[in-house]
Amino acid sequence: MEPKMLVTDAAEVMGTTVQALHNQIKRKNLPHQKSKNRVYFAYETARQLFEIKFNPQVFSFQIVKGGTGKTSLCLGLGIRATLYGARTLLIDLDQQGNLTKACRVKSHDKPIMIELINQDIPVEEGIVSVYEGLDILPSRIENALLDSNLMLKRLPLDRIYKDMIDSLKNQYDLILIDCPPALGSSVTAASLASDRVISPVTPSEFSLEGLEITSREVANIEKSFKKAVPVCPLLNEFDPRTSLSHDTMRFLVTHPKHSQHLIRTAIRRSQEFENVLTKGMSIFDSLANSSAKEDVDLLTRELLKIGEFAKKSAPIDTDRLKAISA
Ligand SMILES: Nc1ncnc2c1ncn2[C@@H]1O[C@H](COP(=O)(O)OP(=O)(O)OP(=O)(O)O)[C@@H](O)[C@H]1O
Ligand SMILES: [Mg+2]
Repeated sequence: MEPKMLVTDAAEVMGTTVQALHNQIKRKNLPHQKSKNRVYFAYETARQLFEIKFNPQVFSFQIVKGGTGKTSLCLGLGIRATLYGARTLLIDLDQQGNLTKACRVKSHDKPIMIELINQDIPVEEGIVSVYEGLDILPSRIENALLDSNLMLKRLPLDRIYKDMIDSLKNQYDLILIDCPPALGSSVTAASLASDRVISPVTPSEFSLEGLEITSREVANIEKSFKKAVPVCPLLNEFDPRTSLSHDTMRFLVTHPKHSQHLIRTAIRRSQEFENVLTKGMSIFDSLANSSAKEDVDLLTRELLKIGEFAKKSAPIDTDRLKAISA
């Protein structure tokens, strides 16, 4: 995986000129590369160029419906965040290990979450580097026993992941947890360790049903543990040509509960998400433009409050969606 940030894109976000950025890169002697007259850089240069002061945040991707884009968007957001200089940790809690596989890391000899808990191993021992700036706590099939283990051992769900994650907050700017499409003790503990729950929904009735169940479950958790955990729906696989996409968007925008924390960036359907996965690459490895790159970039800037998003707080970018649909 070799994610890249183009100097032209960086200049736009920073509200400066390409020439001014070139000068800064030269003056600070920052590593960069060129391809067909296009200059790009990776995490280390991003960190020194953007100099963004991040507030450490923890987001978990969860919804009880399978295949809505939790893993794809968790990975996309994590990678794009590193290209703005955020030290990022991915935590794979799904026994399917899709996030782990997508990162192509060697993890068979590393302890996974269930082993960290049962054998009281420090979390650092399970963490693997994907590339400079991005780390992962991988997952394997054995994590399928997490729920029953947490239950049987009566471990405190409000502390078990939270204490572990809090101990890492001085090492990372962003921690993203990829959950399985389920409800249970492990997902509850993930909610309680998170500043936000991000719930990707696709334009489908089952997906909205999943959102309803997940948000009801989180509301129960909030009540039982007296902790606020906002559930933020994220519209994924938006296709401007289908009325179902527009209906789903309208439903989310007008819904009294779901509209409250709705993420204003919608992610369009794009084959790119699937294409890169099979090649062990990321959507940001290529220098070519794609809607996947554009949308995940906007999502990252919205969630991390980078550039213009630092000032705005509109509920959903309907203007942009109208423009996409035109
Ligand atoms: N915006 C998109 N456009 C097109 N395909 C997408 C998009 N987002 C995700 N996909 C594809 O949908 C499939 C499911 O995505 P993903 O694995 O991220 O979902 P998930 O919610 O993590 O699934 P699970 O619940 O099984 O963990 C993948 O093949 C992925 O490439
Ligand atoms: Mg997944």
